[in-house]
Amino acid sequence: MKNHPIIDQDQMKRGEFLRSLGMSSAALMAFYCLGTTLTSCSKSSDPTPTTPPTPTPTPSTGTGLTGNADASQGTVNFTLDLKDANYSKLKTVGQYVIVGSLIVAKTKAGSLAALSKTCTHQGTQVEYRMAQDDIYCNNHGSTFSTTGVVLVTPAAKPLTQYKTALSTDGNTLTVTT
Ligand code: FES
Repeated sequence: MKNHPIIDQDQMKRGEFLRSLGMSSAALMAFYCLGTTLTSCSKSSDPTPTTPPTPTPTPSTGTGLTGNADASQGTVNFTLDLKDANYSKLKTVGQYVIVGSLIVAKTKAGSLAALSKTCTHQGTQVEYRMAQDDIYCNNHGSTFSTTGVVLVTPAAKPLTQYKTALSTDGNTLTVTT
């Protein structure tokens, strides 16, 4: 019985020693982790990237077109490069192109007309006819003027007309709502 306090004291000392070791280990681990973190931070803030940059996605609009030509995607506002092979035909009277949700035509009179390409009857894509100088739907024969007015039914509503502006050098066409 007389030794118990001594044993207890020894056990307590061992416990304190172990706890002391534990603390030291924890402290060492903390320093280790801190060191690792700092090392990682140092690497992540390195101004010289080790991986190549992500390539820029190829524009879905194609060459020669800048801006939005799809009325379902917001306000129509775009430019066409008439030097680009996709749109150069708009320099020729009687030609037309489909751009997004629009039809753009170089009319018989030499002006540029931009209208919604979707027939207001049942949604077929329209075309420009130089001989008649009109916009025609070959599904049921609806016909519109180059400003979108219905000339021949069954379509009852006009095509949406957009504004066109040609640059002074004739190479850039701007189309807006
Ligand atoms: S869909 Fe154009 S006339 Fe019917």
